Amino acid sequence: MKVDLWLAKLDELTDVDESLLSDEEQIRADRFIHQNFKDHFIKRRSILRQLLSKYLAVKPNEIVINQTKLGKPYVANTDEKIFFNTSYSKDHVLYGFSKDAEIGVDIEFLDAEIEAELISNHFFGSDEISLIRSSVGKTKSEAFFRLWCIKEAYIKLVGKGLTFPLDQVLVTNTMNKPFLTVPSHTDSNRTEILECRFLDVVPNFGIGVVVHGKELEIQYREYTFEG
Ligand SMILES: CC(C)(COP(=O)(O)OP(=O)(O)OC[C@H]1O[C@@H](n2cnc3c(N)ncnc32)[C@H](O)[C@@H]1OP(=O)(O)O)[C@@H](O)C(=O)NCCC(=O)NCCS
Repeated sequence: MKVDLWLAKLDELTDVDESLLSDEEQIRADRFIHQNFKDHFIKRRSILRQLLSKYLAVKPNEIVINQTKLGKPYVANTDEKIFFNTSYSKDHVLYGFSKDAEIGVDIEFLDAEIEAELISNHFFGSDEISLIRSSVGKTKSEAFFRLWCIKEAYIKLVGKGLTFPLDQVLVTNTMNKPFLTVPSHTDSNRTEILECRFLDVVPNFGIGVVVHGKELEIQYREYTFEG
């Protein structure tokens, strides 16, 4: 399945244009106390609408974006198939789109000082914890973020939020060609294998992608106002 990833660096995109946002999004934007957070939200949504419009026969300001009870956004006014998910870290925003099947994405700033062992003890499976413990120096935080970004992307795919037990979402082959083993939706005694990727295409940031389809092909691009 094909996935398009777009990265936007918000602080390099200087125009803040509220005109594309829905009334509901503008109300959400006005709730931010800090101007910078408000501007980031407006830019995130404005870019999301412009990108969605590339995939759908709908103008950016006419797209109706609803969200599930747990906050996962989806397009409500189209019969066309479009699956998307977004994630942000600092001023970097990642958008993932697919016409084929559900996806989840995550972007994280690669903090070399992260308490990798402490966090993994709480959220990771035993093989994953061993991998973190046996890694030294920079490799420890690198291994941690490879796992974390993929697990988070899975959480974003299923849309259930961080209440989902991350230690049941296991990443194998972490440093090479990873894949995910997760509890089956239909039968909790069985497991399901999902395709996933970790990308280190953005300096200082890690990207996780998880899909519900086979033979994942990713096209990565940086967003500019010209598209
Ligand atoms: C989903 C979740 C893990 C994202 O965490 P995060 O690291 O802060 O966020 P990210 O930067 O990766 O992604 C944020 C984006 O994810 C999307 N998103 C929000 N909720 C989502 C969900 N449940 N599933 C998938 N994507 C979601 C939105 O597009 C959001 O961007 P926006 O704020 O510009 O609309 C977290 O918000 C969560 O646990 N949500 C569930 C809330 C919940 O359980 N509420 C219970 C009360 S009903």
